[in-house]
Amino acid sequence: MQFSVTTSTLDKPRVGIRAAGIAQKRKPAAGASALDAARDGEIAALLKAGEMDGEAGSRLLLPGGGTKGSALLIGLGAKKDFDARAARKAAQALAAALVERPATSAAIAVADFQPRGKDIAWVVHTLVAAISDAAYRFTPFKGKEKTTPVKLDKIQLCVERKDAEAAKQACTEAAAIATGVNRAKDLGNTPPNVCYPESLADTAREMAKQYKQLKATVLDEKDLEKLGAGAILAVGKGSERPPRLIAMEYSGGKKGDAPVVLVGKGITFDTGGISLKPGAEMDEMKYDMCGAASVFGVIEACCELGLPVNVVGVVTSAENMPDGRATRPGDIVTTLSGQTVEILNTDAEGRLVLADALTWVERYKPKAVIDIATLTGACIIALGHQGAAILGNNERLAKSLLAAGEETGDRGWQLPLWPEYQEQLKSNFADMANIGGRPAGTITAACFLSRYTEDYTWAHVDIAGVAWKSGKEKGATGRPVPMLMRYLLDQA
Ligand code: BES
Ligand code: MN
Ligand code: ZN
Repeated sequence: MQFSVTTSTLDKPRVGIRAAGIAQKRKPAAGASALDAARDGEIAALLKAGEMDGEAGSRLLLPGGGTKGSALLIGLGAKKDFDARAARKAAQALAAALVERPATSAAIAVADFQPRGKDIAWVVHTLVAAISDAAYRFTPFKGKEKTTPVKLDKIQLCVERKDAEAAKQACTEAAAIATGVNRAKDLGNTPPNVCYPESLADTAREMAKQYKQLKATVLDEKDLEKLGAGAILAVGKGSERPPRLIAMEYSGGKKGDAPVVLVGKGITFDTGGISLKPGAEMDEMKYDMCGAASVFGVIEACCELGLPVNVVGVVTSAENMPDGRATRPGDIVTTLSGQTVEILNTDAEGRLVLADALTWVERYKPKAVIDIATLTGACIIALGHQGAAILGNNERLAKSLLAAGEETGDRGWQLPLWPEYQEQLKSNFADMANIGGRPAGTITAACFLSRYTEDYTWAHVDIAGVAWKSGKEKGATGRPVPMLMRYLLDQA
């Protein structure tokens, strides 16, 4: 998908379809009136006839011949209700309508979709994200005749001259973010017989070949053994596919500038191990590497954009399988930090692979460390599928992530990390247990991680409820790439 910004009015670009917004009980705004003039007053006539009243969620398609192209009118609802949430909805309705049309090119009147309190850059970001999202398909494993490809390929964003500079910048950013989101979706959706720790390592190596600001390092099971990463090794023991620790160093900032380090949970399949999960929907545990996928996505977006910040993406990857060699409940392992863990439930494996990675990244003397993980089912109980849980040891970092989430619609909500919760991790035999009982499962998982992050500024993002959709629309969402990219752009 190609996005570009133009200062022509909506009637000018030679495209297959032109889109404008119609507010309820209002005269057509700038975009629609330019279209109307080019269509000899047809739109005004249709509105007058009540064919469309601008109700939120409504739409009207006017077919057109030759160079005119067709016109798509999107209802925006009442002007007074047109806030960021309504604008995002309108952008999604627009995107859904565009990708089901046969047109390969489109033009959009950007200002029509601008809600109160948001600038043009925000609208461009929102439109590009919505269209890219709607146009995403995952087809590598489907026969050609079984898929209907999206035809739409080129989108021109029409803005006023005074907004052109800001819109162009936003368009470049948004396109790079969309590439990153798609990368995260592709990795998430790839089946677990094709996506495994070494294949993720290959992806990192390929990306490092493609982008010259990027360096990839892979630690294999022998390296992890030498290092003393007992927790990652314990999780991977039951699998034929050995674990990997993958580091992608993106050097966009000044040499010597402390990097932001992202650490992604990359469990390429989570059976639960010996503490086996029930069978229903277990296929969805291929998505247990979506934290890692988002790290790949962010790194790719940074590379595409040439973001002037140093970012290190670390992926801690294993397959959690039951087997004769698998870790047992009751086993005690020594983590890379030297702290020992009694593994009371082998299904609490994410925090184990993260613990060693979080210790390992101390070597970067990071400005901040953010880990991203599909860590707890309890997170879905707490927040459902609307937001990620955010916890950490630094209020400023947590607040920055919350703000970035609000801005992009890729939201998070903070949970407390009060010291009292730490008591739930007591073990009679080791420094800590890997589970803390049923109450506050998301928080006690973060408590566990907090024991490995004392030496730096840290935030934890639990994406169990937002990384993928279940049911008929099953598929990875690419979240929280938009939130993380907004955070990094705010740092730049
Ligand atoms: N990957 C799961 C968490 C998960 C489950 C995410 C379902 C999304 C949907 C994680 O490894 C896990 O199994 N966590 C356990 C922890 C428990 C044993 C303390 C859980 O949440 O049940
Ligand atoms: Mn698990
Ligand atoms: Zn898991």
